[in-house]
Amino acid sequence: MDVAGMRVNYNERTNLFLEENLEIKEPFYLFDKWFKIVKNDPRTVEANAMCLATATKTGLPSARFVLLKGYSKEGFTFFTHYTSRKGKELEENPNAALTFYWEHYSRSVRIEGTVEKLPFSDADNYFSKRPYQSQIGALCSRQSEPISGREVLSCNERELKSKYKEEVPRPSLWGGYMVKPHTIEFWQGQTDRIHDRIRFRRPKENEPDGILTHEAEEGWVYERLCP
Ligand SMILES: Cc1cc2nc3c(=O)[nH]c(=O)nc-3n(C[C@H](O)[C@H](O)[C@H](O)COP(=O)(O)O)c2cc1C
Repeated sequence: MDVAGMRVNYNERTNLFLEENLEIKEPFYLFDKWFKIVKNDPRTVEANAMCLATATKTGLPSARFVLLKGYSKEGFTFFTHYTSRKGKELEENPNAALTFYWEHYSRSVRIEGTVEKLPFSDADNYFSKRPYQSQIGALCSRQSEPISGREVLSCNERELKSKYKEEVPRPSLWGGYMVKPHTIEFWQGQTDRIHDRIRFRRPKENEPDGILTHEAEEGWVYERLCP
């Protein structure tokens, strides 16, 4: 199989991603616009799947997919087990990065920031809306811990289903995080491989004006980056 030769043409139907076409230069506005387009496309399977990167306090990275469960101008939220590998890493190092890739639009969004735990009331609220089997799944798993085989989980599942016929309690250390971004980059792939990248970021304190850095709305600045 010729893996090195694998290549698709990007963005045959959309236009260049140009600064002058940004009607509002603010990254949450743009994220919302892109997200809605992708989500409303019947070809999209999981618009909210995003790769979450975390690192230990010494900087050893790890990455996995999670599902975005909400966003606002404050940040991007997801739910997980606080005792999982990602949870432990976020405990010792609150820096995180999120990456979306939406293949039908040749678009990617990269978010970098720091996490804060959401209040447990938010976790209760979301957990109670999850389907029964997802609730059981969360309760029967000590996420990221080694086990002897699948039968351990099946056994936990049977026990929990006989104990909790309707209402399943939220695992006590299962909850939400919000990634509060300082940087959000928008990438638009182009067939000619000269891709577009526009990065919004919070300026550093006393940062001198730079000719390649432009002011955006609500305290953001933006720059075009080489692809
Ligand atoms: C598309 C997709 C969505 C996922 N969503 C979540 C999620 O929202 N929360 C979660 O804890 N794990 C989710 N997972 C599982 C994680 O990728 C991962 O296996 C798990 O969280 C354990 O990661 P860790 O050991 O690095 O903590 C998802 C996996 C995939 C492929």
